[in-house]
Formats: sequence, structure tokens, C-alpha cells
Amino acid sequence: MVKKEIAVSDGLRQLPIRPVYLVSVEHEEKKNIISIGMFAFFSGKPTLVGVGIAPSRFSFDLIRKSGEYVVNAVDEKLMDAVRICGEKSGREVDKFELAKLTPTKGLRVKAPLIEESPVSIECRVVKEVEVGDHVWFIGEVVAAHIREGYSWKDGLLFKWVGEDGFYHKVGGKVGEY
Ligand SMILES: Cc1cc2nc3c(=O)[nH]c(=O)nc-3n(C[C@H](O)[C@H](O)[C@H](O)COP(=O)(O)O)c2cc1C
Repeated sequence: MVKKEIAVSDGLRQLPIRPVYLVSVEHEEKKNIISIGMFAFFSGKPTLVGVGIAPSRFSFDLIRKSGEYVVNAVDEKLMDAVRICGEKSGREVDKFELAKLTPTKGLRVKAPLIEESPVSIECRVVKEVEVGDHVWFIGEVVAAHIREGYSWKDGLLFKWVGEDGFYHKVGGKVGEY
């Protein structure tokens, strides 16, 4: 099997899966949502995750000042909301209103959960890491919520920039691990 060299900038595009999440934030009564692809697990115990946010985003200041955020999973019903929250800035619009999403109270952070999302995890920032053009806010997961009966069959979204496109659904089980 011979692989041909491609441009470095295209290399990432060809890795099959990038996650898509909606991150909700709040500071001084201002609520906002940002679509993100930069999400990673950093530790099992304690449970640490991270979101990469560019300093130009309105959400950047809200996370830095509040020290909190909520990561919300997205299924195919939330695809339009992902588009809206990834194109508009909370500096100009109320994205909860525009994307028709409902903020609900979390248990341990002030940042709201998104009611329409099947899974939401509440995070408290423990570290900021500046790398390249984004800052990673590493957060300890302090509470987690799941919709009753939720399954990947509900059409969990991911992004495959690949050759053909954009948002795709998670497929089926192919083996044990
Ligand atoms: C699918 C998708 C993934 C994105 N991933 C990120 C990301 O990981 N980090 C980031 O800073 N911006 C990301 N963006 C861009 C922001 O969502 C976008 O700039 C947004 O308008 C910022 O909103 P805000 O100014 O209200 O914070 C992504 C956009 C889309 C559509």
C-alpha cells in the first residue's frame, strides 16, 4: 500500500473524525454558546477534559472570567444549532434565542446546560494551556447528565471534512473491545 504525500494543511482534514460539541458558558448573567471541534479527554482520575478556544471568540472571555463551561453533545436534530452557534457571535446575538435552545440550571457550575442536548458535562477550569492559535481550557468534570434512553442511535454528530463533506452521523457497533 503506497501513500502519497499531501499538504500538511490537508493532513488533518483527512483524519476521519472530528468531534462536534456545543459549549455553553455564562458570566455576569450573560449566557452564550459556541460550537467547537477542539475537545479532548486529558485524565481519567480526576476526570479532566479540555476545550480549545481561540482568543478572538466572545466565549473565550466568558470562560476565562467565570472559570466554568458545560460541554453538550449534539445529535442530528441539533445540526442547525451547531451552524448558528459556529457562525454568529454572542457579542451580537443571543444564541439561545436564535438557535431555539433552552438554558437549564446545572448542579455545580453557573454555566447553563442545554436542555435539547442528550449529554451535558459540567466543567470547572483547572488549567489554561496556550498552544498555537488556541487556548486549551482544561476542566475537571464536576457533574454529568444524560437523557433517559439516550443511545448513539439518536444520530450523534461528528465532522468529517474529508473529501466529501461536513457533518455525519455515528454509525453502528462493529466489534467488541
Ligand atoms: C463545527 C465547528 C467547529 C468549531 N470549532 C471551534 C473550536 O474548536 N474552537 C474555537 O475557538 N472555535 C471553533 N469554531 C468557531 C466558533 O464556533 C465561531 O467562531 C463562533 O461564532 C464563536 O462564537 P462566540 O464569539 O459567541 O464565542 C467552530 C465552528 C464550527 C462550525
